[in-house]
Amino acid sequence: MADKQATLTYNDKTIDLPVLEGSVGPEVLDIRKLYGQTGAFTYDPGYKSTGSCESALTYIDGDEGVLLHRGYPIGQLAEQSSFMEVSYLLLNGELPSKDELDDFTYTISRHTMLHEQLSTFYRGFRRDAHPMAIMCGVVGALSAFYHDSTDISDPEQRKIASHRLVAKMPTIAAMAYKYSVGQPFLYPDNSLSYTGNFLRMTFGVPAEPYEVVPAVEKAMDRIFILHADHEQNASTSTVRLAGSSGANPFACIAAGIACLWGPAHGGANEAALNMLREIGTPDKIPHYIERAKDKNDPFRLMGFGHRVYKNYDPRATVMQKTVREVFDALKVNDPLFETALRLEELALQDDYFIEKKLFPNVDFYSGVILSAIGFPTTMFTALFALARTVGWVAQWNEMISDPAQVIGRPRQLYTGPTQRDYVPVGQR
Ligand code: ACO
Repeated sequence: MADKQATLTYNDKTIDLPVLEGSVGPEVLDIRKLYGQTGAFTYDPGYKSTGSCESALTYIDGDEGVLLHRGYPIGQLAEQSSFMEVSYLLLNGELPSKDELDDFTYTISRHTMLHEQLSTFYRGFRRDAHPMAIMCGVVGALSAFYHDSTDISDPEQRKIASHRLVAKMPTIAAMAYKYSVGQPFLYPDNSLSYTGNFLRMTFGVPAEPYEVVPAVEKAMDRIFILHADHEQNASTSTVRLAGSSGANPFACIAAGIACLWGPAHGGANEAALNMLREIGTPDKIPHYIERAKDKNDPFRLMGFGHRVYKNYDPRATVMQKTVREVFDALKVNDPLFETALRLEELALQDDYFIEKKLFPNVDFYSGVILSAIGFPTTMFTALFALARTVGWVAQWNEMISDPAQVIGRPRQLYTGPTQRDYVPVGQR
């Protein structure tokens, strides 16, 4: 029983609500018995005040701009760690020793190939299919190929499924790209790093050797780290909700990919770059800022604002720095970066954005980098899905291992007709 209680008075009845404390962060009112005790539900459509689970993976303090994975600040991980190491951390709870990291990296590399039959799935799609449409389909289809890792009650099978998903995602995403440009699929080369292998499968061709540019590999790895997990966001909550029914992990991750696709979530980096292209030159920025502020105009500054961060998005800071590194390495001079910097500067001086605490989020700069590396905008969200898979899988594992886990089933405020009698069609 929690030491601290909150008191709720409703319909002349007073009940105590236990107050739960996490290791850090706001206290949480436990309303699990509310309906039983009062007959009333709570109403919170966007879950702005609702915690859906207990989790030890990721902590965000939106007001302070803090993002921690298993306690480690995202800035330190992005600067000093690697995506493989962060993946191990998320999945296992602690940073690995050198041997553990080598072992994990080797295990992941042993799962990078896809069942050969899966390549026929790709050929069923139109050439202009969005990579996310292909990813939803192919990842969901994995459950038809890997029957030996779909028993969710077996921790060993869950572990193998997790490794398979993390390992195969770069191959799946790269093949989606290759299919769209009409080039042959490339098999993984396990002598390369996780990220180097992905770059080669995406941009290499069988006719020539492919050389990984170290600065691009590093930047890409960092982008993967920045997107690896982000607490109970929409797609992660989708994975958890799908998983709460006992669905297999491949189906759950396909559900997460579907949710991530939306422009308010993973699709924002694509939308942000399209917006920068539409704005074009810095002299047009004031016009677009006015449009973003106009209540009668649906236009929003894409890559601005965040449900949780109300100070700054710590990932955006790392991303802005990474743009410069990639541009220097590739000797790119994209005027859109200047437009992005100027837009950030002007928006941050504007009362509307200051009052509403709207800052650039991780997606504001990621599109500029990815475009410089050579990815078409349609691939941006697919890259996000690739990186987020480890977070989804870690969250899904945490949920399945939690003894308090039950099927997710929100309630509603019903506003439809009350009971009425059916009228046969000829009498209506
Ligand atoms: N441009 C202009 N105005 C904005 C923006 C924006 N980008 N974002 C929020 N606002 C305004 C809203 O109009 C609203 O104004 P009001 O209070 O006068 O009605 C107010 O700020 C609050 O906005 P909400 O949509 O209620 O805030 P919420 O926390 O629900 O939304 C969201 C967050 C969806 C990210 C929103 O800021 C947005 O649409 N941003 C653009 C899309 C984007 O960049 N998404 C990426 C999110 S990060 C990620 O998924 C990795």
